[in-house]
Amino acid sequence: MIGRLNHVALAVPDLAAATALYRNTLGAKVSEPQALPEHGVTVVFVDVDNTKIELLEPLGETSTIRAFIEKNPSGGMHHVCYEVEDIIAARDRLKSEGARILGDGEPKIGAHGKPVLFLHPKDFMGTLIELEQV
Ligand code: CO
Repeated sequence: MIGRLNHVALAVPDLAAATALYRNTLGAKVSEPQALPEHGVTVVFVDVDNTKIELLEPLGETSTIRAFIEKNPSGGMHHVCYEVEDIIAARDRLKSEGARILGDGEPKIGAHGKPVLFLHPKDFMGTLIELEQV
């Protein structure tokens, strides 16, 4: 059911410092920052040829990324995103397998303008999984 790895998202405490590290030290192509208030993040996309890395900095007091950074002050891996062809079919199959969908269970429009869902990390060995319909 899952297809390609769309991206790996890393939560970072300082997006400017993280951008400099990826752009200058690692020599990667990094986008301009994009504020996504509805997701509580400012994000940059790092293009690593076979996939993308997203660097997420908290935006707003209620950002879930802020809570993550409080627990992991130097940052860390936040989620992985797999592509699916039909997000409703994927959701219904996962629910029938007993997996929990975060939020109200309805897809939201993600950082790439496509429908996304998040799966409960406790059901997937401690890793938050995002599904994106492509
Ligand atoms: Co993501």
